[in-house]
Amino acid sequence: MNKERVLSGMQASGKLHIGNLVGALSNWVKLQDNYDCYYFVADWHSLTTGYADTSSIKESTKDILINFLAAGLDPERCTIFIQSRVLEHAELHLLLSMITPLGWLERVPTYKEKQQELKDRDLSTYGFLGYPLLQTADIIIYRAKYVPVGIDQVPHLEISREITRRFNYLYKEIFPEPEALLTEFPKVVGTDGRKMSKSYDNAIYLSDKPEEVEQKLRTMVTDPARVKKTDAGNPELSPVYQLHKIFSSKEEQEKVAVGCRTAGIGCIECKKILIKNVFKVMEPIWARRNELINNPDVLHDIIKKGTKKAWKVAEETMQLVREAIGLY
Ligand code: TRP
Repeated sequence: MNKERVLSGMQASGKLHIGNLVGALSNWVKLQDNYDCYYFVADWHSLTTGYADTSSIKESTKDILINFLAAGLDPERCTIFIQSRVLEHAELHLLLSMITPLGWLERVPTYKEKQQELKDRDLSTYGFLGYPLLQTADIIIYRAKYVPVGIDQVPHLEISREITRRFNYLYKEIFPEPEALLTEFPKVVGTDGRKMSKSYDNAIYLSDKPEEVEQKLRTMVTDPARVKKTDAGNPELSPVYQLHKIFSSKEEQEKVAVGCRTAGIGCIECKKILIKNVFKVMEPIWARRNELINNPDVLHDIIKKGTKKAWKVAEETMQLVREAIGLY
């Protein structure tokens, strides 16, 4: 009964792709069997960098929630909600801001990196600097023990732990120190061989239609040295093979690798096998997506229930926090 608590969130910026699926989501799905899991859309976090254009945030939030469910998160076994619907996150963020030295936030490597990366936006804002602080509030308000995230989030978890210790030291031991739950997952390449990413225009989205997915896979880059079918290729240099490693059986991987090296299989045939296997994974997801898109009330209900459940825990924690700090 007393399962340990896991929490993770995803920012509401844009659509999810199959990299997010095999990276984060499938892992979240697995965790719901053994932990008390809380998963949410971090829509406030999207504002930290996207405050000037909020036109797609609502749709993004909805689409991510649909993908959560389509990928197999089960509202009977985990709690799914939207960050901005649980106001207590903001309250805790404010209270934590009182005890967080500016230097700690300025030293988080992603702070300067992101500013460099998004030079066209003015990110010298209070909210952007506080990104990891809001993330800390998200986590500890549920007194979560584990936070499944990618390696890029480790610096954020580090500062979350520091802030947690500071709170516990200053007021009262309320919060467990959250730990990153790093999972090995395959790096997913995009259709051009670079890392799959929204910003490279090389991604296969969960919202793509089957025809689009097929088209994207069919026109994927292969080993550039293999020009004609009679040329032998090196599968390791082919992004198509990288995807086979994720989606195809060991036997099929072997078959296409040998075929590539010996010019025994053409790239078109190799891609056909990949397409078949990607479809096998995607078909149930597409079906669930369509069902949810056609039944918006179902989604609405699930989120309403999830938010209520999350709120209950968050409010419980906040009562302890208010008391610990000595507020009236
Ligand atoms: N920063 C995370 C990301 O970009 C999103 C996030 C917000 C999050 N709050 C969180 C992740 C709390 C884990 C826990 O993916």
